[in-house]
Amino acid sequence: MRPVAVLCGVGSYLPPTAVSNDDLSQRLDTTDEWILTRTGIANRFFASRGTATSDLAVSAAERALKCAEVDGVDAVVLATTTPDRPCPATAPVVAAKLGLSGVAAFDVGAVCTGFLYALSAAAGLIATETAERVLVIGADTYSTIVDPSNRSDAVIFGDGAGAVVLRAGTPGEPGAVGPFDLGSDGDHRDLITIRAGGSEQRLSGAEPRPEDHYFSMSGKKVFQQAIVQMAGSVRGLLRRAGLEIGQVDRMVGHQANQRILTRLADVLGLPEDRNIGNIREVGNTAGASIPIALDDGHRRGLLSTGDQVLLTAFGGGLTWGSALLTWPDLHHTDRIRS
Ligand code: UT7
Repeated sequence: MRPVAVLCGVGSYLPPTAVSNDDLSQRLDTTDEWILTRTGIANRFFASRGTATSDLAVSAAERALKCAEVDGVDAVVLATTTPDRPCPATAPVVAAKLGLSGVAAFDVGAVCTGFLYALSAAAGLIATETAERVLVIGADTYSTIVDPSNRSDAVIFGDGAGAVVLRAGTPGEPGAVGPFDLGSDGDHRDLITIRAGGSEQRLSGAEPRPEDHYFSMSGKKVFQQAIVQMAGSVRGLLRRAGLEIGQVDRMVGHQANQRILTRLADVLGLPEDRNIGNIREVGNTAGASIPIALDDGHRRGLLSTGDQVLLTAFGGGLTWGSALLTWPDLHHTDRIRS
């Protein structure tokens, strides 16, 4: 029988600088009331100078490895939109910093859906017996790419990292991951983008405008697309798994905006108390948001062994996806916040 991927560890890391809505309203034309009611976010964390995405990733990975009670893996898969450098990928750097030089290591670029794409790639490494244990990390430092003077974007995003350890196991055991549903629509790449810095801009011969170096998002259109695509993805996934929405115990969605998550649960017919996350405390941490929310749910005792957990995400590309996971019996660890 082919092995299946089984989740056996989870961990997360948030950098030390907390930034409240009131802090932001000191320098932006915004208010705590607007941010809280329009996004559900009260606080986020920013990485400090001298820190890179790989540093956040390493701290989250150390927690996940400790939780799994293992000190080695055969592969590291990192979802990020904010790599340490445009080249090389950041996963080999993370592996080296963890003392794991020599293992397979690569980045996945699917923006805020990145963690689900990475999880699926890692599950494939296990199913093909390429690896027995894989570290899957989502890590992002959007504070380095968001225009700090753009009030729509600057109030949403925060930095952080989350990680899980997968091991080879058998279908149906607690922790089993899958099936997956993944999709994309590159015709809408302009809705979430950084225009400068890639081959398209370099080969155009035109000098980029200063704002082209920053992340840009058409918030309203993204908001609408997010609900439509995540709902479609979840429905397709549940059909394939032969499950009804009522059989889902917990939904952990990409923590983009609480209004999106509430509306999504409503559209799917999922009772609101099964929709868990921590966007209020950490904001939108992009590719890191699902593993950070999973770790938070685990530490708060909101996830019980055997729970049918639905993961779903949406992001730039456009990309979207969803996955099922039977919650495992895990050790408790504390989140590091230096
Ligand atoms: O993680 C990847 C995927 N990302 C997402 O899923 C994010 C999806 N989008 C969103 O979450 C929301 O669109 C935002 C939070 C980005 C914006 O909220 P919105 O309710 O869609 O606001 P809007 O852009 O339609 O703007 C409505 C009004 C505008 O003012 P006028 O033109 O009506 O006078 C904006 O200028 O709100 C204004 N506004 C703000 N006001 C105070 C926009 N941002 C702010 C702000 N504070 N921070």
